[in-house]
Amino acid sequence: MQKISVAHIQNKKVKQEKITMLTAYDYPMGVLLDKAGVDMVLVGDSVANVVLGLESTTEVGMFEMLHHAKAVRRGVKEALLIGDMPYESYQTATQDAVANAKRFVDEAGCDAVKLEWFDRCIEVAADIVQAGIPVMGHVGLTPQTAEQLGGFKVQGKDADSAKIIIGNAKALEEAGCFSIVLECVPDKIAQLITKQLSIPTIGIGAGLYCDGQVLVTHDLLGLFDRFRPKFSKQYVDLGAAVVDGVKNFCQEVRQGKFPDEVHSYSIKQEELSKINGGDLV
Ligand code: KIV
Repeated sequence: MQKISVAHIQNKKVKQEKITMLTAYDYPMGVLLDKAGVDMVLVGDSVANVVLGLESTTEVGMFEMLHHAKAVRRGVKEALLIGDMPYESYQTATQDAVANAKRFVDEAGCDAVKLEWFDRCIEVAADIVQAGIPVMGHVGLTPQTAEQLGGFKVQGKDADSAKIIIGNAKALEEAGCFSIVLECVPDKIAQLITKQLSIPTIGIGAGLYCDGQVLVTHDLLGLFDRFRPKFSKQYVDLGAAVVDGVKNFCQEVRQGKFPDEVHSYSIKQEELSKINGGDLV
């Protein structure tokens, strides 16, 4: 077993090997993603939507994120583990942002943190990097501030807005970010950014030309159907498998078929006869 490092991820770009990243929010998923050989596991603030049933990622804070990150850490032994900094944990005084980033490392055992673009992003990212914590940037559609971007839609569709995203990505590289998520941008813009940056780009709704790809695991597995963005691909329908399994359980219980002998414990007749004369009622 070899723990994946930031240098290993960056080297993949040099070797032109695609990078994989998926989200996890609990121990069993951490174990399974590691077993499947995912390079990076993100404890995403998408936990708000796909696990906690909330409307917005802005509804989770440090408490929830650390709680879930600790659980994932117990399961992930090889992949690089990244904690997603929640809304308002870094859009704050820079020293508080650094302190919150440190909590992801010290308390939850994360290897890195991710933060979404905002107006003071460069300064905050640079200070967290200075504190010795690897930072992943996130540009394009940034869900925590989606309302300011006109909602959940593709960003950078015209030259002016695309130039801003390209500039932000470059600035994050200069600030010391080790990698950057490109969310919901046209594939050609993502290709341009990927070519111009020396750090790996990880796309979600950003086309084929990024250095790597990330999806929300619950979308990939068919465990979340409240909404399904165009970019997310469902590889398996675990939701249907769960409903089938649960229906079978209910049916067998109602029919008196479960638990059968195989799933029950027995006691020797001689011992049983010492209790209540062996009468069962
Ligand atoms: O929280 C999340 O799941 C994310 C990914 C979509 C990149 O930020």
